[in-house]
Amino acid sequence: MKRVIVGVTGATGTIYGVRLMELMRTDPDIEIHLVMSRSAKLTLKMEHDLELDYINDLAHEVHEPGNIGASISSGSFHSEGMIVAPCSIKTMSNIAMGNTGDLISRAADVILKEQRKLVVAIRETPLHIGHLENLTKLARIGAVIFPPVPAFYNRPSSLQDIVDQSCMRMLDQLHIHIESAPRWGEEGGVPAVGQTIKGDKT
Ligand SMILES: Cc1cc2nc3c(=O)[nH]c(=O)nc-3n(C[C@H](O)[C@H](O)[C@H](O)COP(=O)(O)O)c2cc1C
Repeated sequence: MKRVIVGVTGATGTIYGVRLMELMRTDPDIEIHLVMSRSAKLTLKMEHDLELDYINDLAHEVHEPGNIGASISSGSFHSEGMIVAPCSIKTMSNIAMGNTGDLISRAADVILKEQRKLVVAIRETPLHIGHLENLTKLARIGAVIFPPVPAFYNRPSSLQDIVDQSCMRMLDQLHIHIESAPRWGEEGGVPAVGQTIKGDKT
C-alpha cells in the first residue's frame, strides 16, 4: 500500500487537489490522507459546485488542519510523499521558513526532514522577489517546486485536459504513474471530474 498525503490550501485551483485524489482512486493500492486548510474550503465554495463530502470521501483519511497531533505530523508515519496542490504563498512561505503551526506545513516539514518527496504546486502570479527567495529556499531544502503551468503540445480541448496533465506530472514525481493525459507519443483516459466511483475505503 502506498500512502500519499494531499494538502489543499486556499490558492485558486482547488480542482488540482480534487483531481489528484480522483486519479489516485483509480489505483486500489494507494491510501490517500487529506488535509484542507480553512481557506481552501472557502475557495472551493467560490470555484466549484462540488460538495465537501464528495472531496472528503475521495480520501481514506481526512485530517483537520489544526490537528497537529495527527498521524501525518510524525516522521514515523511512512508515506511516499506529499503534494500540496494548490499551494498558497502563505503555506509555501511557512514551509520554507519552518513555521509549522498548522498540519499542512507541519506534515510538509516532516516530509522534508525525512527526505521524502514534497511537491509544491505553487499558485500565484506575478511573483515578487520575496516569493522567489522563499521558493528558492524551499527548493534548496528538497521540495519540488511545481507551478501547475499548462502544456499545449498535447492539444488540450478542455479545462479537465489541462488539469489532468499537470496532475499526472505531479504524481509522476512520487513515482505514481496514472495515464490521465496523453504523454508524448501515447494515449490515456480516466473518468471525468466529479465522476469517480466511490469504492470501499478500507
Ligand atoms: C478566491 C480566492 C483565490 C485566491 N487565490 C490565491 C492564489 O492563487 N494564491 C495565493 O497565494 N493566495 C490566494 N488566495 C489567498 C489565500 O486564500 C490566503 O492567503 C489564505 O490565507 C491562504 O491560507 P492557507 O495557505 O492556509 O490556505 C485566494 C483567496 C481567495 C478567496
